[in-house]
Amino acid sequence: MMNGNDVWILAIESSCDETAAAVVRNGREVLSNVIASQIALHTQFGGVVPEIASRKHIEQINQVITGALKEAGMTLEEITAIGVTYGPGLVGALLVGVAEAKAIAYASGKPLVGVHHIEGHVAANFITSYPGMSAGDISRQPELEPPFICLIVSGGHTHLVVVKDYGEFDIIGRTRDDAAGEAFDKVARAVGLGYPGGPKVDQAAKEGNPHAIEFPRARVEGAPYDFSFSGLKSAVLNYINHAKMMGEEICVADLAASFQNAVVEALVSRTVLAAREYGTGKLAIAGGVASNSALRAAMAKACTENGLQFYYPDPILCTDNAAMIGAAAYYEYRKGTRHGWDLNAIPNLKLGER
Ligand code: KG4
Ligand code: ZN
Repeated sequence: MMNGNDVWILAIESSCDETAAAVVRNGREVLSNVIASQIALHTQFGGVVPEIASRKHIEQINQVITGALKEAGMTLEEITAIGVTYGPGLVGALLVGVAEAKAIAYASGKPLVGVHHIEGHVAANFITSYPGMSAGDISRQPELEPPFICLIVSGGHTHLVVVKDYGEFDIIGRTRDDAAGEAFDKVARAVGLGYPGGPKVDQAAKEGNPHAIEFPRARVEGAPYDFSFSGLKSAVLNYINHAKMMGEEICVADLAASFQNAVVEALVSRTVLAAREYGTGKLAIAGGVASNSALRAAMAKACTENGLQFYYPDPILCTDNAAMIGAAAYYEYRKGTRHGWDLNAIPNLKLGER
């Protein structure tokens, strides 16, 4: 099955609260994707504690990498290059992955390819085969190639980009305040749903009426592709405080559904507008919030109505993982990107920067 021209990437991701490693062939085929999540550990503090995250990454990283190679049935010698997330993210967390990747690359004489975390999220859309994926899943959508429009919605980022080529982005819209995932997390905390909030709100909203509460939809004057979620978040918090003051019971399901509906509307309208305006015909979503069931349903419907081909990663590839880093590293590797032993963690690395 091995072909001399094949490129096998061993990828490492440790930018936030998941320690992850994966083996990816030619940027599209995932052989293994091991994720050691720290969520349970951070839940008791209501969010990620950076020092604890770094320590846990150090404890987990060796077994996660060994596990990824073992699951792929490969040895380090058979790997072509080592890919690693070097930013953006928590500096202490990123450093664990970067130091590990440098050590492995140095010891094995393999090239080192640093990857932008968000470029990784976008590249999750290139993955067409995954362990356990059924034939139906694979034929679900044809292989995605640039150019396309991508909405990137995670805990720290909300960007609307034109993916001109592999690893080449034009940022056409961004959030002016909170990231979409951050809004989900804050609202979830306010109604006592806990951390991480996105999946909890998604679940609660399934039982609720999305039109029960009319929350504001913010537009940014003169910037049709920009987002703003702080006004919506404040409106939700005001609603909760008001209800508490009046001694009224809050229907969490209705509140979750109405809030989620407002976020989804903002995301879908701008992304579809961009896809129409830029004429790419293809629209993709990426990042943790891209696993939101209401967003996926609304985007699918809007794409059908507007004649756009819709791409979305498997939910496990939306939240942080190393398979997406392996996919992005492959295209960087093909372009000739190589990093030296001076590669450092860059907590505020900008998209498109090297
Ligand atoms: O991409 P990701 O795993 O990490 C970052 O790079 O930030 O995204 C995490 C974010 C969190 O804010 C989480 O609440 C949100 O993605 N999220 C969701 C869902 N699953 C995760 N938000 C809405 N609905 C979901 N189903
Ligand atoms: Zn992420």
